[in-house]
Amino acid sequence: MESCVFVTGGAGFIGSNFVLDWFAGSPSDAPSPLVNIDCLTYAGNPRNLERVADHPQYTFVRANICDHERMEELFREHRPRAILHFAAESHVDRSILGPEAFVETNVRGTFVLLETARAYWNELSAAERGRFRFLHVSTDEVYGSLGADDPAFCEATPYAPNSPYSATKAASDHLARAYFHTYGLPTIITNCSNNYGPYHFPEKLIPLIITHALEGKPLPVYGDGLNVRDWLYVGDHCAALRRVLQRGQPGETYNIGGRNERSNIQVVEAICEILDELRPDSGHCPHRQLIQYVKDRPGHDRRYAIDAAKLERELGWRPSETFSTGLRKTVQWYLDNSAWVEEVLTGAYRDWIDRNYRHRNVEAGSR
Ligand code: NAD
Ligand code: TYD
Repeated sequence: MESCVFVTGGAGFIGSNFVLDWFAGSPSDAPSPLVNIDCLTYAGNPRNLERVADHPQYTFVRANICDHERMEELFREHRPRAILHFAAESHVDRSILGPEAFVETNVRGTFVLLETARAYWNELSAAERGRFRFLHVSTDEVYGSLGADDPAFCEATPYAPNSPYSATKAASDHLARAYFHTYGLPTIITNCSNNYGPYHFPEKLIPLIITHALEGKPLPVYGDGLNVRDWLYVGDHCAALRRVLQRGQPGETYNIGGRNERSNIQVVEAICEILDELRPDSGHCPHRQLIQYVKDRPGHDRRYAIDAAKLERELGWRPSETFSTGLRKTVQWYLDNSAWVEEVLTGAYRDWIDRNYRHRNVEAGSR
């Protein structure tokens, strides 16, 4: 039987898009088996994966990546040819309130996976060892913050993480790198910019703004709203990861970005405009009247921008969505999937939002 790939964190936002895309090809183009390992934190939602749940090549395993014994069992049982490591605590605001879970999953969890993969890989035949890949999915936030005129982050940009989240991702990147240089384990690191698209948990900017606007709630913009992010449509990210899995070189890092730098206020206003058009009868038009500037995030990085030239040049990847096509698709997805939104909004998410926003003071009125 064809050997499988492991995906960790495949019930989260990017992981579930990756799994759905993996099985979205034509039946003649049968994908290899995929084992999704996820412990289902607040961010893991098995409903995202309903469409593939019964696919004969898909297996879901509820397990924590920090559980070394369980990871060893899974490697022994399934004998993967590759692992795509998405599982992480991923929200900067949560990392400010409670960094420990970030150290546990992002640093220790990655260490456990690397150790388990190393022991397994050592026992493979030479040909299998040559084919094996450990693809570590990381973020542009490890590079720190750019000034307005600085060149975009490239793979050689020095690490300068500023939040507990980015510090733990940086630590995990360093471990992945060290396992290649010290042990020869074929690790590859990808650092991508802010993703957006379907199944994005509504604590992050874009889905939070869409869901708040639909409910007529304030749209919180941190600080002056001029922090810049470089937005990448999640489907384009998943295509890049498949390309890196097929053709990426062990020991290398690839930056993945959408060439879509936007200030936060531009993003929020663009969402409001799309909603004005698609939901003119929402009762809150124009939706921009809901915008409220709130107290800034501590240590808020000013600007991220990714130079993805290496991936484009060496592996021939290009994003297929512009920000305007990707954002429209995303807003439409949230409108078409109100049951998903409803379910997420009635879960633990509510407590979190209450706690997070109780201490934020509105600094300027709505515009
Ligand atoms: P997410 O928070 O939506 O999902 C994380 C998933 O990991 C969840 O399904 C959760 O249940 C699972 N998980 C968490 N801890 C686990 C553990 N200890 N054991 C097993 N499973 C666990 O995250 P995301 O936005 O999909 O991000 C995926 C990866 O991409 C992360 O590594 C993140 O750092 C990276 N990344 C994300 C973005 C972005 O814009 N979302 C940008 C750059 C990089
Ligand atoms: P976020 O989606 O949390 O991603 P990250 O912090 O990883 O970039 O935030 C994106 C940007 O939006 C960031 O500059 C913080 C800002 N932001 C707001 O202005 N309001 C919000 O309610 C949230 C969640 C984020």
